[in-house]
Amino acid sequence: MTTLPGLLDTEAIRKDFPLLDRVVHDGKKIVYLDSAATSQKPRQVLDALNEYYEQHNANVHRGVYLVAEEATALYEGARDKVATFINAPSRDEVIFTKNASESLNLVANMLGWADEPYRVDSDTEIVITEMEHHSNIVPWQLLAQRTGAKLKWFGLTDDGRLDLSNIDEIINEKTKIVSFTLVSNLLGTQNPVEAIVRRAQQVGALVCIDASQAAPHMPLDVQALQADFVAFTGHKMCGPTGIGVLWGRQELLEDLPPFLGGGEMIETVSMHSSTYAPAPHKFEAGTPPIAQAVGLGAAVDYLSAIGMDKIAAHEHAITEYAVKRLLEVPDLRIIGPTTAEDRGAAISFTLGDIHPHDVGQVLDEQGIAVRVGHHCARPVCLRYGIPATTRASFYLYSTPAEVDALVDGLEHVRNFFG
Ligand code: ALA
Repeated sequence: MTTLPGLLDTEAIRKDFPLLDRVVHDGKKIVYLDSAATSQKPRQVLDALNEYYEQHNANVHRGVYLVAEEATALYEGARDKVATFINAPSRDEVIFTKNASESLNLVANMLGWADEPYRVDSDTEIVITEMEHHSNIVPWQLLAQRTGAKLKWFGLTDDGRLDLSNIDEIINEKTKIVSFTLVSNLLGTQNPVEAIVRRAQQVGALVCIDASQAAPHMPLDVQALQADFVAFTGHKMCGPTGIGVLWGRQELLEDLPPFLGGGEMIETVSMHSSTYAPAPHKFEAGTPPIAQAVGLGAAVDYLSAIGMDKIAAHEHAITEYAVKRLLEVPDLRIIGPTTAEDRGAAISFTLGDIHPHDVGQVLDEQGIAVRVGHHCARPVCLRYGIPATTRASFYLYSTPAEVDALVDGLEHVRNFFG
């Protein structure tokens, strides 16, 4: 059995994740290598969801009876947990959304409807990168189409990193917002936040960071990042689906207009006009994802008890091993950085001219679950001249034996396709 320095006690951790015991094809135990798409859920999160529904289910911020107050305390308690997890200066800076896409759309719409000095209009520019997930491209395209603003982006180097050689030209006095991913979901690249934030601050542009592939895997400190907004999702970090987070700087959240209108986001309403509740409630119209927030709170407890530093070290060791082993596979080309430095635990690759869908299918027959396709980051595939990739992604429960199973599985794929 391969052991590596820095690994977590995966034998103990895996006992918390019922799905990892699933038997799939022909009695084979699942080898789950698709945590970048969604993580598996520990029993502690499943229990918190169940307990919420069995003992405390009521709408929040409305009832005066005991169970309703318990539901409100659990929902708002989850906000406290998330605020601590990301080192937010204030719990009021944590907005619950449905997912990271909604968080990013919220930022784009806040800016689209904002007054000066935040307003995005035809005299201004929006900056993104070529390695973004569609959820950090399309909202900005929509905003640019609606306002006439110019959409610009950083390109990519051949080794899967951001090309920042023209940073002073891309981010300039016209730039209103720079929105980029901390870790690419397809390439795995971890981006140099400091350099981008420094330049954005020089020209007075706001910064929005998509931390969907970072929050589950490494310590996330929104104050250290020095961004204005940070978006991420719960389901990739052991939480349930249906819950996302947008962190925003308090003074911005006070100034910027709401996007969705409805119950609980108001202060007063008349037939002519309304005034709004303070943030975060201003941005949480309607009944929020209560159980999902409670589940995310339990996920944060779970990850924090293990320690995000230790999780990051575990994934670094697994990624280093996986890169090394994958590069031994004939005809395999990693799309993205080929070292474990400054990269996350998602590794995309092609295998000769075998279509990734075929790779995925033959791996599935062996019980190995990977994602194939363009991973909602099609511009990256276009950049590297490929239709799609196979992507293996690792998490705190991944083991070197699973990396070995993948490499053996790929050997089988190669034999199968001759
Ligand atoms: N964004 C998720 C992924 O990269 C779904 O697979």
